[in-house]
Amino acid sequence: MSLKESPSAFSTTYESAVNRSLESWCEQADSTATGTDRCTFLAFSDESPVGITAIYRDKCNREEGEMLQVWVSPDFRGSEAARELLDTTLRWCGENGILRVLATIARGNVRALKFYRKYGFDSEPATSCDAASSLVLVRTSKNLRIPIEGGTMDEAMTPYGLALLDFFNGDSSAKVVAQREDGLRSDLPTSVFFRAPTEFSPLEQTALALCRGEVLDVGAGAGCHSLAIQDRGMKVWAIDISSQGVEIMSKRGVKRVQRADVFKFQAGPFDTLLLLMHGLGMVANLPGLDRFLHHAHNLVKPDGQILCDSLDVRVTTEPIHLAYQDANRQAGCYFGEIRMQFEYKGQLGPFFSWLHVDAETLAEHAKKTRWACRIVRREGNGDYLAQLTPIPKTA
Ligand SMILES: C[S@@+](CC[C@H](N)C(=O)[O-])C[C@H]1O[C@@H](n2cnc3c(N)ncnc32)[C@H](O)[C@@H]1O
Repeated sequence: MSLKESPSAFSTTYESAVNRSLESWCEQADSTATGTDRCTFLAFSDESPVGITAIYRDKCNREEGEMLQVWVSPDFRGSEAARELLDTTLRWCGENGILRVLATIARGNVRALKFYRKYGFDSEPATSCDAASSLVLVRTSKNLRIPIEGGTMDEAMTPYGLALLDFFNGDSSAKVVAQREDGLRSDLPTSVFFRAPTEFSPLEQTALALCRGEVLDVGAGAGCHSLAIQDRGMKVWAIDISSQGVEIMSKRGVKRVQRADVFKFQAGPFDTLLLLMHGLGMVANLPGLDRFLHHAHNLVKPDGQILCDSLDVRVTTEPIHLAYQDANRQAGCYFGEIRMQFEYKGQLGPFFSWLHVDAETLAEHAKKTRWACRIVRREGNGDYLAQLTPIPKTA
């Protein structure tokens, strides 16, 4: 049944399996039932088998093993039986000195990816780049130390910051790679972070026209908006978690610049908080959005405002993006929560979450944290600009 239902989970076909002799099956069963090099586990419900996994130790590297034949009957996926099967297999690996466990899945199989991630697997950058159709996942004790939201934001931004710094120092070809957890890789040319005011999109121009009073540019990057605001004779403070970003901004002439995590930043209050280029994404997920909106009341004057842009990720017809959104929903996550890592010149940051929130969900979360939300501008690609103003406590 398993071979017919999920042929890609196995290295053999249904036809060759039914043609195998009983002795050959017994031999395989014996070889994986004894010793410490191979093991097969079965999950049962009542008397019926509902899942299987096998682990094979690598012949050269004895601390490495590969998980094969991982299959759970469709009715039992996400069940206690599936969890126990994986737990038992991984426990056996630990008890038998297999410290690095590999699992190969089809690229784009987001459901399998989410499942393995729950057990501490992460994609293997070196091999995942080579294989066009498959993705190798690795579970090591190091992976397990990385929190599910991907280490610290500071570490996550380092490859991006180094690429920005190289560009600033004259390497116009510097580009950082963003790798999403399903293996999708996109190049981010660093030049975009140094865009001139004449290159600002209509959405950015609208946002800058709405800026008033003292402005806090949150996640200011290389300072393109801070410099533009400063050039208009307005007072602007730029903060960013990236030390390289902060260094660049100082050298480019941003007068008030500080390295800070917005969640820990205490200053102001300001008239305007500005988060552009989907900068609101730094809140990571919807609980993070609430945390940020609560904290922002300390940073913004009672008659002040937050100007931020974000993206409705549903505005796409790309199958790979739609599959990713579905996998998020199935895993109980908001569809616009993107988990990715940055890579630059072989340096890989930890995975982190970045939130793209649709306008209606933003308005809902704004309301419950006492912000009035006005959508100032919507673009055809799902981008939009929002203006949030504090709702007085008495209202
Ligand atoms: C998409 S970039 C936007 C850069 C800039 N605003 C622009 O439009 O070019 C997001 C920026 O947010 C910064 N960032 C991420 N998390 C942060 C946090 N918790 N606090 C402050 N800055 C953060 C990153 O280092 C990065 O520079």
